[in-house]
Amino acid sequence: MHTDTSPVTPAARPGDALATVDTPALVLDLDAFEANLRVMQGWAGRHGVALRPHAKAHKCPQVALRQLALGAGGICCQKVSEALPFIEAGIRDIHISNEVVGPAKLALLANLAREASLSVCVDHPDNVDALSAAMTRAGAQLTVLVEVDVGQGRCGVADSDAAVALARRVQAAPGLRFGGLQAYHGAMQHLRTRAQRAQAGAEAARRAAAHAQALRRHGIACDRITGGGTGSVEFDAASGVYTELQPGSYAFMDVDYGSNEWNGPLAFRHSLFLLSTVMSAAAPGRAVADAGLKSVTIESGLPSVHGRPGLRYVAANDEHGVLAVDDGAEPVLGEVLKLVPSHVDPTFNLHDELVVYRGDTVVGIWPISARGLSR
Ligand SMILES: Cc1ncc(COP(=O)(O)O)c(C=O)c1O
Repeated sequence: MHTDTSPVTPAARPGDALATVDTPALVLDLDAFEANLRVMQGWAGRHGVALRPHAKAHKCPQVALRQLALGAGGICCQKVSEALPFIEAGIRDIHISNEVVGPAKLALLANLAREASLSVCVDHPDNVDALSAAMTRAGAQLTVLVEVDVGQGRCGVADSDAAVALARRVQAAPGLRFGGLQAYHGAMQHLRTRAQRAQAGAEAARRAAAHAQALRRHGIACDRITGGGTGSVEFDAASGVYTELQPGSYAFMDVDYGSNEWNGPLAFRHSLFLLSTVMSAAAPGRAVADAGLKSVTIESGLPSVHGRPGLRYVAANDEHGVLAVDDGAEPVLGEVLKLVPSHVDPTFNLHDELVVYRGDTVVGIWPISARGLSR
């Protein structure tokens, strides 16, 4: 028998009061977001380095367009397919801060490189040859950066001889142009004290500079050294080594980054929240909110409850968030909470749209168009 299922109404529409947004909903405080963008752009500008914010954090072209309007020179993506909605939105300068391996991805990359100015990373000679073959077949041009490992132990070559050999191979390869070095150190972003991050940042910059000097000794110009994230940009920008910064999370902040020590020149506000409704308050000392693992990820810890003392998010089930309730702080059924996600990037990837508000009013719905595009 056919059952008539009426479409689910949108979580919110522009002009709605924030209090009426249906939950769970990922929401953006536009004032805090814009303040964060200005802080980062100002910091890069003061140090004469380019800002190329990472779009893997948010996967939302509307976010990237605002970063570009404030002075960012281009954006980063982490995957080839992730770049698609940003190119469709008219963004023409994209660095894929990653190695691209495999025929399907190379074919897509070559197609996109005919439309936009793209760069990618390499850390293996076979990949240089495969990139060159794909670009030649498509009649496209690609900028290629050699990725060097400056302490993270992920992608990237560790010694300068390998970096020089790769750069030479790129220079000799049809369809490719050597663009410089990527020197990103992810693990240092989350070192809690500024002193720890300063020390790791100085070591990363020292290693990056040594690789660049080796290239120059061999007559290879190295005009671009790109890297850095929210936790390290303070030091990367001031190092005199990096020419370009790639932070992503700073625009939103999360519980994890909020746990870093921020007593230096940079401070970012929480702008991203998950609205969640208290749907059960059946037992003393406990309540349940309607946002669990399908709305927020917990690999970096649990979300925190923002601006509402006496409630703690203590466990995430698929569609339930269990809250511990202090005496006298009992929520009423239907109370809407603002949760701060513990990790911005994978949380964005769970949502189709971002409900954007200023003050108490919804002012826009921004599609998270690259959500799920991880090939
Ligand atoms: C290569 C690269 N660059 C930049 C970033 C941005 O980092 P964050 O969001 O911590 O600022 C990341 C994040 O993992 C990354 O992998």
